[in-house]
Amino acid sequence: MKMACTTGKGFYVAVVIGIVMGSMVASCAANFFQDTEITWGGDRGKIFNGGQLLSLSLDHFSGSGFQSKKQFLFGRIDMDIKLVAGNSAGTVTTFYLSSQGPNHDEIDFEFLGNVSGDPYILHTNVFSQGKGNREQQFYLWFDPTRNFHKYSIIWKPQHIIFLVDDIPIRVFKNEEAEGVPFPKNQAMRMHSSLWNADDWATRGGLVKTDWSKAPFTAYYRNFKMSSSSSSDSSFSGSKVQSKNELDANGRRRLRWAQKYFMIYNYCTDLNRFPQGLPPECKRSRF
Ligand SMILES: *[C@@H]1O[C@H](CO)[C@@H](O)[C@H](O)[C@H]1NC(C)=O
Repeated sequence: MKMACTTGKGFYVAVVIGIVMGSMVASCAANFFQDTEITWGGDRGKIFNGGQLLSLSLDHFSGSGFQSKKQFLFGRIDMDIKLVAGNSAGTVTTFYLSSQGPNHDEIDFEFLGNVSGDPYILHTNVFSQGKGNREQQFYLWFDPTRNFHKYSIIWKPQHIIFLVDDIPIRVFKNEEAEGVPFPKNQAMRMHSSLWNADDWATRGGLVKTDWSKAPFTAYYRNFKMSSSSSSDSSFSGSKVQSKNELDANGRRRLRWAQKYFMIYNYCTDLNRFPQGLPPECKRSRF
């Protein structure tokens, strides 16, 4: 049990469920007061409902951000996020794992806003030892501003899986044997932020932030962070098996997400890599 729950009752319920399911992972949400801290933006980051709800906002002066107090080496994070509604063009909301220092590792979700009615882009990337350049981008199959949706990262020694509402959208395998660096030596923390990036975010920077609509606000709840380093235990509450790979259903969902919603994949961008695609692109179908 890596992160205690907020209410005593919830904690014991979770323990019982956890035991019944044969899992030692807490399935209860963290408390934003206890388990996270607002790191920048002053009172643009707010915590409500006794720690169950958090909001970040962005205005003409500043964005805002928060992070988990704990860090881990391998594990899973989940967060329900309701993105900036209306005209969110130029804004970027992030949710990611990162270590510190110049050769840091990072596993990213970034949500690139858009004008009302036009789709957000979900941008993903994996950095190891300070080097990224592994972008994949997706449209979502729902309006991420209407309701909360769950975004998750599973980080294991064998692979990284990005999930949206428990549907795997991207798998980055550990292919160190093929010379591909994989994040596995530096502990990471959850970070999240809302900031202005209208020089690149929306249609490549063509659409600027409409400051008359500020402040822009995103909402967060149900943050879960469970370390997997202590044992080879499975993670509860997902379609992902405890073994190294996705099960048949997970693979089918991954293919669905990639076929219908992926709009950019560095692994097929030959213009960008005229000397040849990165080594991980050669073998893996995804
Ligand atoms: C915004 O909408 C335009 C037009 O539909 C689309 O091309 C673009 O991919 C959308 N998303 C972003 C973040 O630019």
